[in-house]
Amino acid sequence: MSAQARGVLLCVLGATGDLTHRKLVPAIAGLRRAGLIGGPMPLVGFARQPLDDESFRQRLHETVEGSDADDVIAQAVYVVGDLRQADDYKALGSRLDEIEAAQGPFAGRIFYLAAPPSTYTDIFQALGSVGLQDESHGFSRIIVEKPFGHDLLSARELNQELLSVFREDQVFRIDHYLGKETVQNILVLRFANGIFEPLWNRRYVDHVQISVMESIGVEHRGKYYEEAGALRDMMQNHLLQLLTLIAMEPPVTFDAEQVHNEKVKVLRALRLPAPHEVPNVTVRGQYGPGEMAGKPVPGYREEPDVRRDSQQETFAAVKLQVENWRWADVPFYLRTGKRLGRRVSEISVQFQRAPQRLFPRETRLQPNVLRLRIQPDEGMTLSVGAKVPGLRIELRDVDMAFDYGTFGKPGTEAYERLLYDAITGDGTLFTRRDEVEAAWQVVDAIEAGWRQEEIGPDIYRAGSLGPEAADELLHHDGRRWHLR
Ligand code: BG6
Repeated sequence: MSAQARGVLLCVLGATGDLTHRKLVPAIAGLRRAGLIGGPMPLVGFARQPLDDESFRQRLHETVEGSDADDVIAQAVYVVGDLRQADDYKALGSRLDEIEAAQGPFAGRIFYLAAPPSTYTDIFQALGSVGLQDESHGFSRIIVEKPFGHDLLSARELNQELLSVFREDQVFRIDHYLGKETVQNILVLRFANGIFEPLWNRRYVDHVQISVMESIGVEHRGKYYEEAGALRDMMQNHLLQLLTLIAMEPPVTFDAEQVHNEKVKVLRALRLPAPHEVPNVTVRGQYGPGEMAGKPVPGYREEPDVRRDSQQETFAAVKLQVENWRWADVPFYLRTGKRLGRRVSEISVQFQRAPQRLFPRETRLQPNVLRLRIQPDEGMTLSVGAKVPGLRIELRDVDMAFDYGTFGKPGTEAYERLLYDAITGDGTLFTRRDEVEAAWQVVDAIEAGWRQEEIGPDIYRAGSLGPEAADELLHHDGRRWHLR
C-alpha cells in the first residue's frame, strides 16, 4: 500500500511558530481535499510553550484561515519539549509510539524543522540520540527549512551534522520556489517541447534575466534579515535555483538523482568573481522611506529590530556567467529586492536579433523574448515581430501568450506539493547537499568582494524599482531590464 494510503505521522519541531498555521495545516488540508492522502496524518506539534493538545488545537483554530482545516486541527496533538534537550525527545518518541499503537501502523514519520536555524544542529543530534532516524518500523524523513547555513563553511558543517544522523535520501531541504507550478513548468517547457532545446544555447540566446521583485518590506523579520540580507535570503536559494532550471542540461531521466546531477553542474560552472571584480558585476541596495500604494512607508533602518545604521542589503543584482559550452559569454542577470513598486517574479530569455535587416524601420523591433511569469498572473509570452496591417511595411512587437487561467483550475500551493513529495519520498523538488554548498560558494564570493571593496548599499526609495545602479549594470552591456 502506498504511503499516502497508509498514513504518515508529521511531527513539527518548533510547532508554535507561524509556519504551522500559515503553511503546514493548510497544506495537509489541501492534500486531503484533493484526495491525495487517504490514510491518517496526525500533526504532532513539538515546542517549548506549555500547551496541551486542547490548547494547541485552540490556537490553530484561531490562526488557521478557512474551515476546511477543522479535521486536521481536531487530530493534532502536542508534546512539550525543549528543541535543544535530547531528553525531551524521549517523550516525543514515546508519544509517537503511542499514536502509532492506536492509529497505525503508518508508512513512516516525517520530522519537519520549523525552528530557528540556530537550533538545527542540536535538533539533529537530539533526534539521533534517541534513535528517531531509525527506519525499522517505517520510513523516517526530515524536512529542513531554509536558510541552510549562512555561508559555505556553516552549510558544510550543518550537512555533516545532519548526515551523521540521517542518510541523504532521508533528507528534504526545502526551497519553496521549486514547489511553485510555474517553476516546475520550466522543465516541462524546455524538455517536453522539441522547439526550444535547439535554440537554448549561446548561439541563439543573447542573455537571461531573472527578477524576483517583492513589494513587502522585512515585516516582523528584522532580526533575521539583519543576519541574512537579500543575497542570503533570496539569491542563494530561490534565484540560483531558477537559474539552474533554465541553464541545466537535459537529465537522462526525470528522477531526483539525475535532475540534481545536472543542476549541480550548472552551479559549479558559475564563474566566481574575484573580490576586486565584484563591484562591476553586482549591485547592493537598501530601501529608504517612500510610498507604497499611496501610503508612506518607513525605510529599512526604521523597521523594528533593525540597526539604525544598518548596512544590510534589501536588494541585490548580480551578473553571472555559466562557464560551459552551452552558455559561455551569455550573461545571466539576477535581481531581487523588497519594497519595490511591483510584486512580480519573471524570467526572460532574450534571443539574438535576426542576422540581417530586410525591412525598413526594423531596428524598432525588439529581439524575441520568451518571458516566463512565475507570479502573479502566471503564464508565458513569446514576443515576435509582426507586420501591422496596411499598405506600408510597418513592423511591431506582438506577444504569443499563454495564461495559466486557461486550465480553469488553481495550481497546487507550493507547500502542498512539497509535503506530498516528502510523503511519497520524491526528492526531485528539494535541494541536495552539493547543490546547497555550491550555491553558497557563489554567495561567499560576492560577500567577500563587498567586504574587501567596502561596498555598502545604495539607498533606493521604497516603491521604486531599486537603485539606479541596477539599471546601469545592464546599460553598461547595452541592455535593459524587461520588467520596468
Ligand atoms: C522567503 C524569504 O524564502 O521567500 C522571504 O525568506 C520572501 O523574505 C519569500 O518574502 C518570498 O516568497 P514568495 O513565495 O512570496 O515569492
